[in-house]
Amino acid sequence: MSVGLGAAPLASKTILITGAASGIGGAAARYFVECGATVIMSDIAVEKGEKAAAAIGKNACFIPLDVTSEASWQQAMQKAAEVAEPIDGLFNCAGLVDVLDDIDDLALAEWHRVFKVNVDGSYLGCKYAVRAMREKGGAIVNVASIYASVGGTGSLAYAASKGGILMLTQSVAQYCLARGYAIRCNDVLPGYIETEGLDATWDVMGGKQRIAEMHPLRRLGRPEEVASLVAFLLSDEASYITGAHYPIDGGYLAQ
Ligand code: NAI
Repeated sequence: MSVGLGAAPLASKTILITGAASGIGGAAARYFVECGATVIMSDIAVEKGEKAAAAIGKNACFIPLDVTSEASWQQAMQKAAEVAEPIDGLFNCAGLVDVLDDIDDLALAEWHRVFKVNVDGSYLGCKYAVRAMREKGGAIVNVASIYASVGGTGSLAYAASKGGILMLTQSVAQYCLARGYAIRCNDVLPGYIETEGLDATWDVMGGKQRIAEMHPLRRLGRPEEVASLVAFLLSDEASYITGAHYPIDGGYLAQ
């Protein structure tokens, strides 16, 4: 038996990615195609997403998807089925990342805005991916955060929403096991990753260098590094892994 990732760990797999117009989702689309996959990129940022898919070429396409809307998921899954029926995996990556708040100043409307994208969006993704993949099997990867594990000041709604992702993942994994569906569900907990989503936030948080030094590896993460872990979790190389949480954080949670 061979050990380690093959040259094309996602060969002949079709993966749906949410939030694929930029950041980690965009990097994942490029990386998965290098791993042999066909990717269905989706986002609310339609023009940007279409350009990103066109830049990748024939193994990528784009469909509009607002992850907070059930109707949008239904339409997107119909379009995805025209590419592959069923899909083989979902990378539930869409999320709000530039959220700064605390208990004294957080308005209920802002709490709901963050939960709607980060939690409702991931829940709907799991729901429709399980429906699509329950006969043939597949894999789902959700995105949590280091904040899901330790919380933190300055990011209350974000941390709470990402905490919810951990139990969404475990519960979906357990449900699929109980029903005999060959669907694995895992999540990743990134530290600070250098993406467009945080462009407006670095200065407010004291600058990139300060944030980088919060991680024992003393640098920010790269989107491709997250994509690599997610590709592994979506591949058959991870066939014995479900309901699990993977930090990818330059040692942040090990401190
Ligand atoms: P980003 O802002 O670069 O990309 C997020 C994408 O999600 C954007 O293209 C945006 O248009 C899309 N999006 C937002 N709302 C949407 C909706 N309702 N429906 C569909 N798409 C929507 O952000 P980044 O950094 O790539 O984050 C990706 C994921 O990784 C998020 O879930 C974020 O919370 C998570 N994450 C990011 C970290 C970081 O340091 N960048 C750290 C930990 C987690």
